[in-house]
Amino acid sequence: MATAGSAVGLGNIWKFPYIAGENGGGAFLIVYLICVLIFGLPLLMTEFIIGKKSGKSAFGAFQALRKNKKWQWLSWCCMLTAIIIMGFYFVVTGWCFHYVVAAVTHSFKGLDTGAFSEHFTSLVNNGGSMFAYSLLAVLLTAIVLWFDVNKGIERMSKILMPLLLLMMVLMAGRVLMLPDSNIGMKFFFQADFLKINPQTVLAAMGQSFFSLSIGMGAIITYGAYMPANQNISATSLQVVVLDTLVAVFAGLIIFPAVFAFGVDPAEGPQLVFVVLPAIFEQMSFAWFSGILFFGLLCVAAVTSTISLMEVAVAFLTEATEKTKHPLNRHKSVLVISAIVLVMVAFNGISLTNDGTWLCWEGKNFFDWSDMLSANIFMPLNAFAMALFVGWFMDKKDVRNQFGKQDSWLYRIGAIYLPLVRFLIPLAILAIFLNGLGIL
Ligand code: PFF
Repeated sequence: MATAGSAVGLGNIWKFPYIAGENGGGAFLIVYLICVLIFGLPLLMTEFIIGKKSGKSAFGAFQALRKNKKWQWLSWCCMLTAIIIMGFYFVVTGWCFHYVVAAVTHSFKGLDTGAFSEHFTSLVNNGGSMFAYSLLAVLLTAIVLWFDVNKGIERMSKILMPLLLLMMVLMAGRVLMLPDSNIGMKFFFQADFLKINPQTVLAAMGQSFFSLSIGMGAIITYGAYMPANQNISATSLQVVVLDTLVAVFAGLIIFPAVFAFGVDPAEGPQLVFVVLPAIFEQMSFAWFSGILFFGLLCVAAVTSTISLMEVAVAFLTEATEKTKHPLNRHKSVLVISAIVLVMVAFNGISLTNDGTWLCWEGKNFFDWSDMLSANIFMPLNAFAMALFVGWFMDKKDVRNQFGKQDSWLYRIGAIYLPLVRFLIPLAILAIFLNGLGIL
């Protein structure tokens, strides 16, 4: 449940629709689903194996399994990726908090999509307010990690996450009744293969990694907390199915509404924040639906920020354990929160009108963090992890992680190994180099 909580988040409901919208809808969806299958499932297993077998966080896992420090650089790459992601993820979580407040105070009543767009623009131009909302999100996450109340969060997610899914089904039902919703359905489900280009494939691969929390050690860290009798294949499959279901439902809600309200699907990061309030205006119990949905979105976001910050906190605690100045869990939470807030400030400022100094090549700091983490760092880290398990871990050890010998689960290991030894690293490399125009 905790891993599902980490996977299901803003990546599914905020990022997936906007990336799909920018990359041609249906064409993107097909490539995304293929990536989830080819990469997502085996790579989730890969991180679980590393974490479960070593019992360590991203800092100590590679070292413990190889009994030397040669792979330490990969631990640092995971940590760096986590910090970069947190920088923009907390900003977007802050937006969700803002939208809960706006929904409660009836700020959206009677407005049209043009006004929603203005609302969003004024939000991102108010650096102070944006920072305050992100600070709230950082504080909440830090409190959960400080008191180690993950169990409580897990129990809460068990009720709230199905509720989020139910709410999304209801919203999809309402949206499909809007005029012109069929255009959006076509956009999302009709694959125009001519629209698939190397960048689409790279974006889809990156999105599948981001959405499943692969390639930065979050799953390694959770794997370390996994009970010995927990089945890696079944857990990975459940997480993949649930995560993909939520993303597809998000598309099913957003795209018909995008066309019904005349919004540009390639609008970028603001897409769902313009479209969602417009949907609630069309629903019965508009006020209540808006509050409930954005509230649930905040819960989904925070279960992901918890896993993001946990990577960094576990890393720092383990890294300093044997030094002269060991940082216990509490101190690590404070240090990481401080670093994250600095990153949040840079991300936030880069979105405001005063933030032009944080822009390069037409992209601001926020866009760069978003793009670099998913399309470059996560695939490269995952590439190295696949090679690590495939070539540098004992084959028997790896296969034993799947189940008892002679069980059918054990046989999954026989399919898994060639995948991580050959197919996955080669495919990641090819897509990566092709997407960057090098190949
Ligand atoms: N998978 C999360 C989402 O889709 O929102 C984002 C994320 C969480 C990425 C944790 C990476 C991670 F370690």
